[in-house]
Amino acid sequence: MAFKIAVAQFKGGAQKTTVTVALGEAAAEAGLDVEGIDTDPMGGLLRWSMAAEAEGRPMRMAVTGMPSAKELPDRIHSATAHRDLVVIDGPPPGALALAKAAIEAADFVLLSCPARPADQDSVPATIAAVKAAGKPFAGVLTVARNTLMTDTGRVALHDMGAQLLETEMRYGDPFADNYGHRSRGVLRKFGIDLFHEISAKIG
Ligand SMILES: Nc1ncnc2c1ncn2[C@@H]1O[C@H](COP(=O)(O)OP(=O)(O)OP(=O)(O)O)[C@@H](O)[C@H]1O
Ligand SMILES: [Mg+2]
Repeated sequence: MAFKIAVAQFKGGAQKTTVTVALGEAAAEAGLDVEGIDTDPMGGLLRWSMAAEAEGRPMRMAVTGMPSAKELPDRIHSATAHRDLVVIDGPPPGALALAKAAIEAADFVLLSCPARPADQDSVPATIAAVKAAGKPFAGVLTVARNTLMTDTGRVALHDMGAQLLETEMRYGDPFADNYGHRSRGVLRKFGIDLFHEISAKIG
């Protein structure tokens, strides 16, 4: 039975899909049988994996789409039967039922937390949903840019109750350039560090 991690943040563009790819690919590279479940109705993760396939270098993890909140529990159940790890990519805003279903289905929730305080408005609501579902969770700081902004962002997140992992995603074009490819370079390194830190945390 697979362990299920949901990458969540109710805000859009919080790097959920990028974190999902980095983590899922690192776990697959470490030898786990991984399935990424795309809950975005626009299919961002699916399109990423299809682009990698078209390039002739498919992702290491399998990716499937998940069109509705109603289907999510069943689909995850069937995915978990034969996988080691399922990573659920939370949807963009406007799909709150799906976002909550993803959290409900998970064994562990990874909060994708933007470093910029101005982008952190959805964090308390996401944490409240995770706590209401009774799920263990941790935050990962994304697009950490300059030290001052990142430190201010860390303090704000701490005050909101988001315990942050040490691994953080630095801002930079090499990340954005990874779209459409199997993870490589800085995205791959970020994923490997993230996978090791989460594995140590959940045992
Ligand atoms: N470290 C980074 N530095 C710069 N840009 C980044 C970085 N990581 C991701 N991006 C870019 O930020 C944008 C949003 O990332 P992503 O699609 O992962 O967010 P998301 O939370 O999945 O969005 P949505 O809510 O729409 O699903 C993308 O254009 C991505 O390429
Ligand atoms: Mg996304």
